[in-house]
Amino acid sequence: MDAAKYWVAVIGGGPAGLFAARAFSNNGARVTVLNRDIKPGGLAEYGIYPTKLKMKQGLRSQFQQILASPLIDYFGNVTVCGGGNIALEDILESGFQAALVTTGAQGTKWLRLPGENLPGVYHAKNLVFHYNSLPPFSGRKFLLGRRVAVVGAGNVMMDIAHYLVRDRKVDEVVAVVRRGPAEIKFTKKEMETIAANLDLSALEAEFGRVAPLMQAARQDPGLVQQAFTDALPKALPPVSQSRFRFEFLASPARVLGDWMNGVSGLKVEENILVAADGAVKARGAGTSRIIPADTVIFAIGDTVDRDFCIPVYNDAYQTVPEPRFPVGGLSFEAFNPDTNLPIERVFLAGWARQASTGLVGYARRDGEMAAEAVLQYLQTFPPGPGLDQAADRFEGRLLETHQRVVDKKHLEKLEQAEQKEAMLLGVEEFKFPTNDEMFTAMGF
Ligand SMILES: Cc1cc2nc3c(=O)[nH]c(=O)nc-3n(C[C@H](O)[C@H](O)[C@H](O)COP(=O)(O)OP(=O)(O)OC[C@H]3O[C@@H](n4cnc5c(N)ncnc54)[C@H](O)[C@@H]3O)c2cc1C
Ligand SMILES: NC(=O)c1ccc[n+]([C@@H]2O[C@H](COP(=O)([O-])OP(=O)(O)OC[C@H]3O[C@@H](n4cnc5c(N)ncnc54)[C@H](OP(=O)(O)O)[C@@H]3O)[C@@H](O)[C@H]2O)c1
Repeated sequence: MDAAKYWVAVIGGGPAGLFAARAFSNNGARVTVLNRDIKPGGLAEYGIYPTKLKMKQGLRSQFQQILASPLIDYFGNVTVCGGGNIALEDILESGFQAALVTTGAQGTKWLRLPGENLPGVYHAKNLVFHYNSLPPFSGRKFLLGRRVAVVGAGNVMMDIAHYLVRDRKVDEVVAVVRRGPAEIKFTKKEMETIAANLDLSALEAEFGRVAPLMQAARQDPGLVQQAFTDALPKALPPVSQSRFRFEFLASPARVLGDWMNGVSGLKVEENILVAADGAVKARGAGTSRIIPADTVIFAIGDTVDRDFCIPVYNDAYQTVPEPRFPVGGLSFEAFNPDTNLPIERVFLAGWARQASTGLVGYARRDGEMAAEAVLQYLQTFPPGPGLDQAADRFEGRLLETHQRVVDKKHLEKLEQAEQKEAMLLGVEEFKFPTNDEMFTAMGF
């Protein structure tokens, strides 16, 4: 193997980090991927709905191929900053020429409403991690009742509704949407998973209620309603009696209930639609109503991790406003708004650069473009000597200071053990639900 031209740290082993790692290695760089989770894949492993087996297997095999490169080292169960015991500063001081942060959107977005801390109120991400078997969420109890209000109208709301309707078989799921039916963000494909449970008379009544408000915003309620029922011909056969319905133009104002009995409802402020700056926005109408519910789940997107060692401004990490290494007109260099300076040698990609934005394909492109920006930066100084030795020294130090670091050989063992378990149980896929079981399977 030729000596590495560059040596880059990729922090986060989700799609953005792994596709960036491939782009670096294709350009002769040595890459060290540091990942919080034992397994690679991020939300491709622990976010995408578990029944999308073909898609998940396809992505897993792409990630395996990427990690097979001798230029890419993988260390799982390593959290950088926050609760971990390696700081970004330590990484930069170890001789890496640059660090690409692809840690995703690990922070939780709350609305800070009264009653948000009641038992029975959850953030979608935690439930998604639970049903996708990510430790420690896999072992957590979720007190889901029979009538669940899910706030949001994106694909995550649809995934949660899918889980509630097809797996938990609750009585009712109400999607609480702050704008109107024309502003929903979920796709027809996702609607097909639970369209058979759509309460059509409730939908008709809700469209009747909001039609004048839509017309006032120059929208055609009939056309929009058709988009909701377009999913019916290809709807999956129902497996429960769950009723799925929508409440539009409703912004959560308070979670009702008490500590002993949990949630009893969601108070919402009623909205009207206003067209402003080329977009349709919700404006409070000054009236409110109560949606009966015993569980409330917020599916309103996520934010970056505030415990990571990059300053957060406006709920996000910042990139240099006028990039020195733009790719596709975008900036990937991290920026410190306190000093008004770039954070030297640190770059951002994927959901760490733009939280809760886009599909795996977006994260992949973003990772690849960020790698291009980093490579432009690296070309501004001559290739350093002894990078491979520095990478080996870093690995030695990491193993000295961290317990149970998972490398590529361990991942192979884990993969084999899970496949064996799936065969024994006669299921298509098996995941160990705790870190300890994974460590045992890997021979720690
Ligand atoms: C519920 C849900 C369902 C989805 N379903 C689909 C779908 O069906 N199809 C589709 O195309 N897209 C889907 N997406 C979108 C897709 O998952 C994302 O676009 C993509 O995973 C984002 O990639 P990323 O690498 O930026 O972040 P992530 O996938 O979040 O990866 C971040 C990685 O960073 C690691 N990490 C975090 N903090 C640290 C730290 N401090 N130190 C070290 N490592 C750290 C994590 O362990 C993780 O491996 C879904 C998203 C969600 C939320
Ligand atoms: N199956 C799939 O392909 C799949 C599955 C899951 C996720 N994903 C992708 O992952 C990304 C993130 O998905 P997401 O569903 O988390 O985000 P999203 O698509 O942005 O949807 C977020 C929803 O929450 C609402 N919301 C945000 N802030 C709110 C507030 N303060 N009060 C009330 N409602 C609020 C938004 O309403 P407004 O529109 O009014 O802002 C929107 O309806 C998307 O790109 C999505 O496509 C894909």
